Amino acid sequence: MMKLNIGLIIVVAICLLWPLRNSAQATKGGKKISADLLGLFFEDINYAADGGLYAELVQNRSFEYNLEEKRDWNPFSYWEFVQPGHSMGHISVETSSPIHPNNPHYVLIDAEYIGDYPQVKVESGVGLKNSGFDGMVVRQGEKYNFSMFVQQITDAPMDFLISLQTPKGEILAQTKLNTSDKMWKKYTATLTSTASSDSASLVVLTKTSGQFAIDMVSLFPEKTFRNRPNGLRADLAQTLADMQPRFMRFPGGCLVHGNGLGNMYRWKNTIGPLEERKAQRNIWGYHQTAGLGYFEYFQFCEDIGAKPVPVLPAGVSCQNSGGTHVIGGAGQKALCIDDMKEYIQEVLDLIEWANGPATSTWGAKRAAAGHPAPFNLEYVGIGNEDKMTPEFEERFKMIVKAVKEKHPEVIIVGTAGPFHSGEDFEKGWKISSEMKVPVVDEHYYVQPDWFLSNQHRYDKYDRTKSKVYLGEYASWGNKMKNAIAEAAYITGLERNGDVVQMASYAPMLAKKGFTQWTTDMIFFDNVNILLTPNYYVQKMFMNNQGDYYFDKVVTKDESNKLLAASCVQDSKTSDVIVKLVNAGTEAMPMKVDLSRFKGLHSNAQIEVLEGNADDENTFDNIQKVTPTKSDYTVKCKFEYQAPAMSLTVIRIKTGK
Ligand code: AHR
Repeated sequence: MMKLNIGLIIVVAICLLWPLRNSAQATKGGKKISADLLGLFFEDINYAADGGLYAELVQNRSFEYNLEEKRDWNPFSYWEFVQPGHSMGHISVETSSPIHPNNPHYVLIDAEYIGDYPQVKVESGVGLKNSGFDGMVVRQGEKYNFSMFVQQITDAPMDFLISLQTPKGEILAQTKLNTSDKMWKKYTATLTSTASSDSASLVVLTKTSGQFAIDMVSLFPEKTFRNRPNGLRADLAQTLADMQPRFMRFPGGCLVHGNGLGNMYRWKNTIGPLEERKAQRNIWGYHQTAGLGYFEYFQFCEDIGAKPVPVLPAGVSCQNSGGTHVIGGAGQKALCIDDMKEYIQEVLDLIEWANGPATSTWGAKRAAAGHPAPFNLEYVGIGNEDKMTPEFEERFKMIVKAVKEKHPEVIIVGTAGPFHSGEDFEKGWKISSEMKVPVVDEHYYVQPDWFLSNQHRYDKYDRTKSKVYLGEYASWGNKMKNAIAEAAYITGLERNGDVVQMASYAPMLAKKGFTQWTTDMIFFDNVNILLTPNYYVQKMFMNNQGDYYFDKVVTKDESNKLLAASCVQDSKTSDVIVKLVNAGTEAMPMKVDLSRFKGLHSNAQIEVLEGNADDENTFDNIQKVTPTKSDYTVKCKFEYQAPAMSLTVIRIKTGK
C-alpha cells in the first residue's frame, strides 16, 4: 500500500513538472544575485510630497503652517480672505474647538453681510481663496474632488458656492453646497473644469450671512495615479512606475530622524483619517501634511510592484539638526531609555500594521483604510546615517534585538553613517556585524571620478558579513558625465549583486524653485517633468534587471577605468542583458561573447543613452538627452563600438 502511494506521488509529480521543463530559467554558470537590486528612495525633500507627488492642490489646507516652519509663515499663509460684491465679514484663526487635537488650527468666519447689488457683476459672498502651490493646474473637462470640514455656529442652514477661477476671476468650474451641522462635518462636491489653466484658484464663498468654522479645505484631481483617493500626481507617479523599481525606501533620509526628538518621523501620525494626522515641520524647512503617509506609501509600492522599505528612527534625532550643521555636533538627541519600551512597541506595531491579519489591533487599522490583505513587508530600516554615539548604539541594539525576537522573518537594515568610509562608517558596520543585522545601509555623494575609480569597491567585500544596501548615492551633478559615471558604478553593483542587496539613487524628486539639494533625479514644476540623464541611467538598469550575473561575457581594455560592462540574465524570461558603459570622450570597442547562452535569438533590442560630457536636460530643453531604442541583430560573438559618453543596454531573448 505504502509502495503504491509513493509510486503514485512520483507519477503525479512528473506529470505536474513536465510542462515546466521548457519554462524560463537561468543558464548554468551564472552567479545568483539579488532580485531586489535596484529601486527607489523617496524622501520628502525639495517639496517632493506636498506640492509634488501628493496630488493635493490646496496649500496649507488645514491652517497648520507656522513660523517655526518658515519665518514669514502663519496659519493663514497661502489663503486670502475674500468678500466680493461689497460683502462684509470677519475672520479669525482659532484653536479652541478643533476637529481633532492633532489638527489644532481652523478658521472662524463671520459673514456679516452678503452684498446684493444687481449692477455688481461678480458673485457676492464671504469666504476664502487658495491658489495652491503657485497656482493650481486644471484641465478642460477634467473633474476635481472638493471637500471641506465645516462646523456651523449659526442655527439656520448656510449656502456655499465653490468655484475654480482664473487669476482674472473667470469661472472655470462652480458648484453649490449646503451646510447645517453644528458639529464638524465633511462636505464634498465635484467640480468639472470648462477650460484649462495653470494658475487657477479655489474660492469657497458663503452666500448666507452667519458664522461658521472651516478646516481641511481640499481639492484633488479625480485622475490621480491609479485613481486612488487621496492619491498621487498621475504624471509624476507614472515616471516612477515606468522605472519598474524593485523596492522603495521611505520616508528619508534626514527626515526620518528629524530635527530634534519632537520632529522624528512617527509613522502612526501619518495613517488614518487625514483630519486626524499630525502635520509637522519638515526638516528641510517647510511643512509636511502627512497626507502622503504610510498607507499611501505602501499602496503606491503595491501599485508599482515595488517592495516597501520603511525606515524608522533609531531612537535618536539627526546629528546635523538642532542648530548645528557640523557632523558630530551637538544636534543628535536621544530618547530617554525609559521611553524606549514604548518606542520599540511602535516599531513592532508597524510590522503588525503591514503584515498582521485584519483582526489584529494594527492590521485592523490597515483594513479600515481599505487594505484588508497584508502588505507583505519584508524589510525594515532602523536609523538613517546616524552619528555613531553610545546613545545611538544602545538604542539601535535594543530595537534590533526586539525586532529579531518578535519578527525573525523581517530583514533588518542597519546604518553606516553618511560617508563611504571614516569613523561612523566603520563603527556602523561593526555594530551591525556584531548584531548580525542582515543588511547595512551605506550612503555617499561624491564626484563622478570617485565612482569611476571605485567600481571594484564591492569586489572585496566579505561575503560572510551583512549585505549592503546602498541606500543613497549620487555623483554631484546632473550632466551626462555624472550619469555615465553612475552607470559604470552600477555595473559593479550588478557584478557584486551577491553582496549588494539593494541600491537607490538620491534624492529622487525636486520641485523647481523649491530645492534644498541641487543634484536630484527628477525635477518638476506644476506642469512639466524634467528627467535627468541620471534618471535615464537608473531606468535603463531597473528595466533590465536580472537575478544571475555572468562574468567574462564582455572583453574590453581592462586598464581603461572609463569602460565598464556587465551581463545578467533574468530567470523569469531567460532574457540575457548586456550593459556597456563608455565614460570616455571617444568611441571604444568591446567584444561580447554570448556563446554560453543556448537558444539565442538574433533579433535583440538595443537602448543607447549618449551625449557630450556636459550635456544636461533643462526646463528650456527638456529632451536634450534621452535614450533611443531600436532593434539590433546579435551573433554569438560580436564587437560593439560603445559611443563616447554612453550607456548601452542590449536585451536578447533566449529559448523558444
Ligand atoms: O538625500 C538627501 C540627504 O542626504 C538625506 O536626507 C540624508 O540621509 C543624506 O545626508
